[in-house]
Amino acid sequence: MNILVTGGAGYIGSLTCVQLLAAGHTPILLDNLHNAKAAVVDRIAQISGTRPTFVRGDVRDRALLERLMREHSIDAVIHFAGLKAVGESVAQPLSYYDVNVHGTLVLLEAMRAAGVRTLVFSSSATVYAESDVMPLAEDAAKGPVNPYGRTKWMVEEILADAVQADPAWSLTALRYFNPVGAHPSGLMGEDPQGVPNNLMPFIAQVAVGRRERLSIFGDDYPTADGTGVRDYIHVMDLADGHVAALQHGHGRAGHHIFNLGNGQGISVRQMLSAFGLACGRDLPFTVAPRRAGDLAAYWADPTRAAQALGWRAHRDLAAMCADTWRWQSLNPLGYPEN
Ligand SMILES: NC(=O)c1ccc[n+]([C@@H]2O[C@H](COP(=O)([O-])OP(=O)(O)OC[C@H]3O[C@@H](n4cnc5c(N)ncnc54)[C@H](O)[C@@H]3O)[C@@H](O)[C@H]2O)c1
Repeated sequence: MNILVTGGAGYIGSLTCVQLLAAGHTPILLDNLHNAKAAVVDRIAQISGTRPTFVRGDVRDRALLERLMREHSIDAVIHFAGLKAVGESVAQPLSYYDVNVHGTLVLLEAMRAAGVRTLVFSSSATVYAESDVMPLAEDAAKGPVNPYGRTKWMVEEILADAVQADPAWSLTALRYFNPVGAHPSGLMGEDPQGVPNNLMPFIAQVAVGRRERLSIFGDDYPTADGTGVRDYIHVMDLADGHVAALQHGHGRAGHHIFNLGNGQGISVRQMLSAFGLACGRDLPFTVAPRRAGDLAAYWADPTRAAQALGWRAHRDLAAMCADTWRWQSLNPLGYPEN
């Protein structure tokens, strides 16, 4: 299939392009490089032996989207493009609603005009409400607690309404838990601009000497070791989940929703010691107060994806750390500027 990949130069999008190429599909990347570097396309080419088409442009540019869909005979769209920093979404909510919600509406309109009816959308575990009942299955209560999470939930509701009105659509929402890791070659990985918002890239930057120490936000949560527990999923498993969801959704009309997670909780302390093993030294940390809005623990029930997609995450914590360390140590400053 010819797949338009919005946000295809980003962390998850670029690695999904590698797995799409490996599965025999043709990705066409659209990205405005707001949070990515064009050099990632060279790395995709190096790994895959094929250089995908890359177009620098905005997902809110309807004319561009329609032109790309027609020129490249697009069969389906995977929609990663968006803004993703929770804290920034609190400070700049209008930008988040514009890019994440309005951007998806423009994309859906362009798809309808071009006769493309299959979409896979990057949703998030942030759509779920706080809960003491774990793991989280797809029908767990919803209640996003910040503008970022609300944009994802709004888009999911828009997708549900669109399918209700026009059953020809095949619209899939994938709710990611916490993606980490890198391509096993060390050529591609997460390249956050500025101070990393997430645990794994922060630990990796401590390990490579870019940051002095990790701050653990709270060690008095009601968890086994007192630190926060999340469901970390290797980004290559996540990328494979997109290929599986695409193949499932293509030609199967309806609104499909899947959790993509490991099904296991890992604590901050467990992650830190596993990374220490991967990089060969104990990493410095301090314990800081809890951050407002952080939950103690949550993880996914990934059963539905296993049953419907035949997909399951199988890369373990050691692989997540070893692959991240290979990427970070070979590319201490991330992708080159060009
Ligand atoms: N990484 C996570 O922890 C996580 C978890 C759940 C969901 N998601 C979602 O998955 C998607 C991909 O996440 P990621 O971690 O790869 O982030 P990323 O920032 O690396 O990728 C997003 C890409 O979209 C591009 N982009 C932003 N605005 C755009 C616009 N208006 N037009 C075109 N391109 C634009 C950015 O330049 C970037 O390359 C996002 O929608 C994110 O919300 C991510």
